[in-house]
Amino acid sequence: MQSRRTFLLSSAGAALSLPFWPAHSDAAAAASGAGKHFLMIGGTSFVGPAFVEEAKRRGAKITLFNRGKTNPGLFPELEKIHGDRNADVATLTSLFAGRSFDAVIDTSGYYPRQIRNMAAALKGRAKSYVFVSSVSAYKDMTKPLAEDSELATLSDPTVEKITEGTYGGLKVLCEQAAQAAFPGAALIVRPGYIVGPRDPTDRFTSWPLRVRRGGEMLAPGTASDPVQIIDVRDLGDWMVTQAIAGQSGVFNLVGPEKKLSMGELLETCKRVTKSDARFVWISADKLKQAGVLDHVPIWVPPSDIGMAQVSHARAIKTGLTFRPLATTIADTLAWWQTLPAERQAKLRAGLSAEQEATALKLR
Ligand SMILES: NC(=O)c1ccc[n+]([C@@H]2O[C@H](COP(=O)([O-])OP(=O)(O)OC[C@H]3O[C@@H](n4cnc5c(N)ncnc54)[C@H](OP(=O)(O)O)[C@@H]3O)[C@@H](O)[C@H]2O)c1
Repeated sequence: MQSRRTFLLSSAGAALSLPFWPAHSDAAAAASGAGKHFLMIGGTSFVGPAFVEEAKRRGAKITLFNRGKTNPGLFPELEKIHGDRNADVATLTSLFAGRSFDAVIDTSGYYPRQIRNMAAALKGRAKSYVFVSSVSAYKDMTKPLAEDSELATLSDPTVEKITEGTYGGLKVLCEQAAQAAFPGAALIVRPGYIVGPRDPTDRFTSWPLRVRRGGEMLAPGTASDPVQIIDVRDLGDWMVTQAIAGQSGVFNLVGPEKKLSMGELLETCKRVTKSDARFVWISADKLKQAGVLDHVPIWVPPSDIGMAQVSHARAIKTGLTFRPLATTIADTLAWWQTLPAERQAKLRAGLSAEQEATALKLR
């Protein structure tokens, strides 16, 4: 089970086909990537494909660097360099010898050493470095967050273990490594919960699935509690625009544009799935009493409310746009239906029927 503060992905495989990236109506307005060449460190799980699909659509050239383990059949048309990003600098340098790129897109960095080594190997070969961090980089989740909010720190900056206590602080050190290696040319992307087709965590996906099942169901907190999510394709679109423009700086990436409440999220799931679900709102205190507080995905309890109050003003000013929530829900469910039955049988997030029943007894 993923913890709430750890916006961390497993790179678990997902369906290979990508039918969920329809051409945009604003295609003509989007900046062209023709003539641009991006090196993607990763690219084949969730955020990576969203970037790749949009960059391809805009005419950019993309080279993927990864081990060839996650979804190896994806993007057969793209150039690939296979290798382990944990290799030493000399090995990495030899892999990129004689090449140059407009930007490096790093979706798979978790330890500062990985960014330092990759950047050293690409020194002079790339104009900018795009690093995908997380809103977990912030220290204090109890109040609203903006890009200049205080950042998480680590007592041991050399730690190489991802836990709830280290993930955010490590992302901060990764950001700093990218900024040090590419002064004035590092783009730091801090997303909140990323959702949509191919999400390997099932955190968001579990809600439309539960609502679709219908009947009386647990709804966490109160209907007016704020929620923030970003469709992976909105994130990918924005990242491509910024990479083409050579943007630098630090940006939070959360959605939707207008405030969203947990009630609106569940009602939209109900509308999209034509469900008869009846929501029973269970307070944070009662969820805690039932022992399930830490297992409710996407919704955040009052103690961490800053995680649902992250400013996205800066990203919107640079062109971040949002699909309708109903589209995200419908596309996520359509993608889910394409997964093998064994995968569908093992939801990776959300409350079990027993946990839900236990909490509902406390209403
Ligand atoms: N999910 C959320 O809600 C959320 C929120 C905030 C931030 N984030 C951040 O978003 C990013 C998510 O990325 P993603 O997993 O979706 O990216 P991705 O680029 O789609 O997939 C990860 C890629 O990394 C490659 N990779 C893994 N280990 C590697 C290694 N040692 N050497 C070379 N390549 C390696 C994998 O391929 P191979 O296995 O074939 O090597 C795969 O292509 C993460 O940085 C996460 O911290 C996520």
